[in-house]
Amino acid sequence: MFDNVGWGKKKRLSQIIAGDGRAVMLAIDHGYFMGATHGMERPAEAIKDLLPHVDSLMLSPGIVRNSVRPDFGRGMVLRASGGNTILDPDIDDESLILTAKEAVRLNASAVAVSVFVGAEHSHQTIINLTDMITDAAQYDLPVLGVTAVGKALKDKKEKRYLTHASRLVAELGADIVKTYYCEGFEEVVAKTPVPIVVAGGPRLDTYEDVLTLCYNAIQMGAIGVDMGRNIWQSDYPAAIVQGVNAVIHKNFKVKEALQLVESLCNEATRRKEYSVETAQDIKDSKVH
Ligand code: 5RP
Repeated sequence: MFDNVGWGKKKRLSQIIAGDGRAVMLAIDHGYFMGATHGMERPAEAIKDLLPHVDSLMLSPGIVRNSVRPDFGRGMVLRASGGNTILDPDIDDESLILTAKEAVRLNASAVAVSVFVGAEHSHQTIINLTDMITDAAQYDLPVLGVTAVGKALKDKKEKRYLTHASRLVAELGADIVKTYYCEGFEEVVAKTPVPIVVAGGPRLDTYEDVLTLCYNAIQMGAIGVDMGRNIWQSDYPAAIVQGVNAVIHKNFKVKEALQLVESLCNEATRRKEYSVETAQDIKDSKVH
């Protein structure tokens, strides 16, 4: 993998893809079009306990400057396209919001550009990707191409469309493709000649569903996940992120990973109860 790229790009990719060829990316860039999303109201606080369990963060440039400590030692994939919000009719009218030079100045490991293949602004978003690929090439900066769907494409999270969009993104020169998991996902992987990471999408019903998504994606050839809401909108983000990490880096089966998550959840509940009891004891001892 990546035999034909320069040392600088290999070095940056190694901050995203671990030595085992797998990647756990934590996506926290949602605010660039959703604003202060539930679970990510205070990014620095929300990610504090998750960082040891991820290889990289995917985030917006403002959040790097305001919420990530400069001694953060893992990869950072900077969102480089944007310009629409959930208050607009749709979110595909994007432009580039970052230059490769600025991304390098922020010590990015890669930049991410969304393409909305087949949406109203499809052409423009594809050109955003190719403009960034050309710009980033000057610095050996990898580009992650995101096959995004807005309202108009919301029913397109299926094999035929995702294969088409992912292949396009790879053809145009992206180093990694981020897409959605779907039934028949192995075909998306087989026809996309660069590594693929999958998004998590909106919150799933159970931890088992989240772990099954990760497990199936890996079994069918994805190198990992770039997951957000199913981690930080969950009741126990630090537990589920460790389950996801175990599936991706330790080859845990769903059942084993679920046991790990459940034991971490129980431990966290016990700790919470203990601190509530202790606080009550202190209060009571002051009263008497
Ligand atoms: C939006 C993105 C998000 O980072 C992506 O959707 C991943 O987050 P989630 O797992 O919450 O879907 O790229 O275009």
